[in-house]
Amino acid sequence: MTVTEILQFVDHLVFTKTDKHLDDLQKKIIKEVFQGKTYKEIADFYDYDEGYIGDESRKMFKVLSEKIGEDVNKNNFCWTIERFINSPVAYFGNNHVNYCPNHQFLNQETINKNPSKTNYSDLTLAPKIIKFYDNETELKKLNQWLFKQNIKLISVLGLSGIGKTTLVKRFVDLNLEKFEVIMWKSFKFPKSLDLLVNDLLKISNVETFHETSLQKNEVSLQKSFDDKLIQLFAIFKEKRCLIIFDDVQELFIKGNFAGKYQDQYKNYQTLFNLIKEIDHQSHVILISEEKSNMMVSLDEKLRSVKSLELEGLTNLEFLTNFQLQDQENWLNLVNLYEGNYNYLRDIAYLINDVFGGKVTDFLAENELILTVDIKANLTELLNKLSPIEREIVLKLREYDQPITKQELKQNLKLSFTDLINGLQSLNRRFLIKNQGENKNLCSLIPVFKQYLRNLGI
Ligand SMILES: Nc1ncnc2c1ncn2[C@@H]1O[C@H](COP(=O)(O)OP(=O)(O)OP(=O)(O)O)[C@@H](O)[C@H]1O
Ligand SMILES: [Mg+2]
Repeated sequence: MTVTEILQFVDHLVFTKTDKHLDDLQKKIIKEVFQGKTYKEIADFYDYDEGYIGDESRKMFKVLSEKIGEDVNKNNFCWTIERFINSPVAYFGNNHVNYCPNHQFLNQETINKNPSKTNYSDLTLAPKIIKFYDNETELKKLNQWLFKQNIKLISVLGLSGIGKTTLVKRFVDLNLEKFEVIMWKSFKFPKSLDLLVNDLLKISNVETFHETSLQKNEVSLQKSFDDKLIQLFAIFKEKRCLIIFDDVQELFIKGNFAGKYQDQYKNYQTLFNLIKEIDHQSHVILISEEKSNMMVSLDEKLRSVKSLELEGLTNLEFLTNFQLQDQENWLNLVNLYEGNYNYLRDIAYLINDVFGGKVTDFLAENELILTVDIKANLTELLNKLSPIEREIVLKLREYDQPITKQELKQNLKLSFTDLINGLQSLNRRFLIKNQGENKNLCSLIPVFKQYLRNLGI
């Protein structure tokens, strides 16, 4: 939790209670109290009388206490505010912050004052971002696509652990106020489109929720699926919604080429198509480890879609969290593990446990070491491959250098069509790299190659 987040939240509470934003002195007090300073220390530092700082603080705490319906004082200020910010279920109603089982609404008073503010958000399944490093260019791209180019369907893609979910959640945190409805849905445990549309309707139709009884809502949920879709797009048209679908790869078939929808989820493809084709003012972000046809944006001029393929960590500051030594070698470490946050975190722990934090000693081993967790992650990837892809990767692991498709063909029993389809699919899983002139050379990403070489098959 940063002091800026605390300031923004407290300012919001104070403003909705008093119609006034925090003044400079109140901001200074919050900043210093947040850092554990006493009234005396704050007074000395800013050249005020200690009693005056105490009085001003108490006035502000009184407003906050009334607003949230709990006693707020200097001793519990930070904890109380953090608790409210962290709770995905804080519900602002009747000038109080109450608790609501699942969702977060802002009160009507707030909505009326600032109609552009989010009046519904469900981020229950979104992770909380404590510290965010780099990806500035990626955030800029998302901003540009959503707010300047009005792209309706955006995909954020890359290997597991490369930072997709974190990036999108950061984007959402920074832009909460720009949408009327924000929803985060994860496909970790996918449900049928019909049920999902019910959810979307139930929660995105804020007026229905506020003005009518649940009964009426239930009646509307009994409509035919087509009617529900029409209703959903009416909401997308009327309100500026941002819907995030995380882990979209879970909708795809395992053991087939990448990005092929399982039969029971095929209609999601239809929904995503409609989202980019129909005229409305909402946006959908798909987060996936596998790229489907829809997520390819080569012909982006023809279609209102964009995709962002993440390259992983570039800001070495991330590694400062792990008490590693030999900073001059950190970049080598990052490159070795593809800039993958999860892999690097695991390896940092390993270097601490086994090499006393010495990165140079670890690198001197001259072997790409895989932890148990990294291996487990790569096993999952291997298990998703189609038989053709499996054949290709098992052959590719034998080569130290990138090879041409023709050379690969000569050493495999696959038809050229199968080979090309297989390579495309591996590409769409981010497991191979194409290099050289005309991208004719291909190789496995080193971590996966190492994993395959260690397999006893
Ligand atoms: N920009 C970032 N700044 C700080 N930490 C990050 C950043 N990106 C990722 N991380 C850290 O790396 C971990 C993995 O990132 P994340 O969950 O976003 O990856 P992912 O691509 O969504 O993976 P998966 O496909 O498995 O869901 C997170 O727990 C997060 O702590
Ligand atoms: Mg994720």
